[in-house]
Amino acid sequence: MRAKPFNYQYILSCLRLIKNNIRVFLRETLKSRPCLAAEADQEDKGEMILIEFKHAEKTFNDGTKAVIDFSLQIGKGEFVSLVGPSGCGKTTTLKMINRLLEPTAGSILIEGRPAEAFDRHILRRNIGYVLQQIALFPHMNVEENISVVPLLNNWDKERIRKRSHELMEMIGLAPDAYLKRYPHELSGGQQQRIGIIRALAANPDILLMDEPFSALDPISRKQLQEDIQELQKEIRKTIVFVTHDIKEAAKLSDRICLMNKGQIVQYGTPEELRNQPANDFVRTFFADFEPSAWHHTVKELLAECPMEFSVMQEDLFKPELAEEGNYTVLVSPEGKFAGLAYEGKVMSQAILSPDMTIESAASIMLNQSAAVHPVLINETCCGLVGYSQLLTYLRQKQTGREV
Ligand SMILES: Nc1ncnc2c1ncn2[C@@H]1O[C@H](COP(=O)(O)OP(=O)(O)OP(=O)(O)O)[C@@H](O)[C@H]1O
Ligand SMILES: [Mg+2]
Repeated sequence: MRAKPFNYQYILSCLRLIKNNIRVFLRETLKSRPCLAAEADQEDKGEMILIEFKHAEKTFNDGTKAVIDFSLQIGKGEFVSLVGPSGCGKTTTLKMINRLLEPTAGSILIEGRPAEAFDRHILRRNIGYVLQQIALFPHMNVEENISVVPLLNNWDKERIRKRSHELMEMIGLAPDAYLKRYPHELSGGQQQRIGIIRALAANPDILLMDEPFSALDPISRKQLQEDIQELQKEIRKTIVFVTHDIKEAAKLSDRICLMNKGQIVQYGTPEELRNQPANDFVRTFFADFEPSAWHHTVKELLAECPMEFSVMQEDLFKPELAEEGNYTVLVSPEGKFAGLAYEGKVMSQAILSPDMTIESAASIMLNQSAAVHPVLINETCCGLVGYSQLLTYLRQKQTGREV
């Protein structure tokens, strides 16, 4: 009997079918376990919504309604604080982001996808979590504590070593002196710093912090607040931060979500909550808190102490025609900022932004030779800030208090 000839067409169609099935499988798998986006760039800040609560609720088995009809959007790279009295649902809200708790109604979206579509473990490895109690593993040294999540993510030894050194440098602790120490050989402030970099070790996109500084003495607390401010300038993570302390929240946050009895009372910039409180609850919360004028924003300074200047298209600018004492903002034909001239002479200067605090603006200005600097929004100049204006504003706000 003659052997049947090989049916190549049949084999090819089988291979095609297998290939398509693999494709569908990979697509579905990736869809259900997406990677979170890489680090936020400063330019991206706030533009893309990274975390969204949509009418989320949490009712515990005993009937406690911890979170009620909670809708909130948090932009990529934003620092958002949840503030409110004890028991108002801050921790519960935070834990629903990394699925330590599941909402009983509504949904939570991460990068536009329901949190439950992510593999729970992968999601947690992409979301750093810092707790109030310094929760370092006592039997592990600092390096081992930092390595936990990178090891779970299969990082090799060299990559982990480099990352631990980089993180230790970031928080100002010499790696050679501290990496081999055990938690009991560190101060409370140092332990909490390690807690923060441990949460950042695998480079997560989101950092959740639940009253991370409350166990510390006031000096360490202030120092750590400053550290986290500096760190955030460098790493631009999306941070959700829980605190009782409205002053701390106002100092650190882009936006504050003030909660009461499981609900949002007001969500906005510290300035909005302070200047346009939605109701008496917000007003009372801010009543004892009048921040130093150094913590007001450049925007507030511009509104109260504007500085005069003229605007001229760069290619039409004639230095010899400039008037005495006059500042001229030079712009491109599209109206974008192109330079700043004083009495016809173009000066080098730093760029300020309306949302930075007066303290940050002053520290930038002190490192420059020029006395006046432009404030830009999307490359368009919205005002100038000079030393004399800054002093006038601080004096006006002083009202007997130290500024
Ligand atoms: N597992 C649980 N079972 C039942 N009720 C709970 C549970 N966890 C929290 N609660 C209740 O839910 C409410 C919100 O608690 P949550 O821990 O979110 O408050 P919080 O704002 O973080 O408070 P604090 O500032 O004191 O930490 C509280 O009334 C609390 O008693
Ligand atoms: Mg709590």
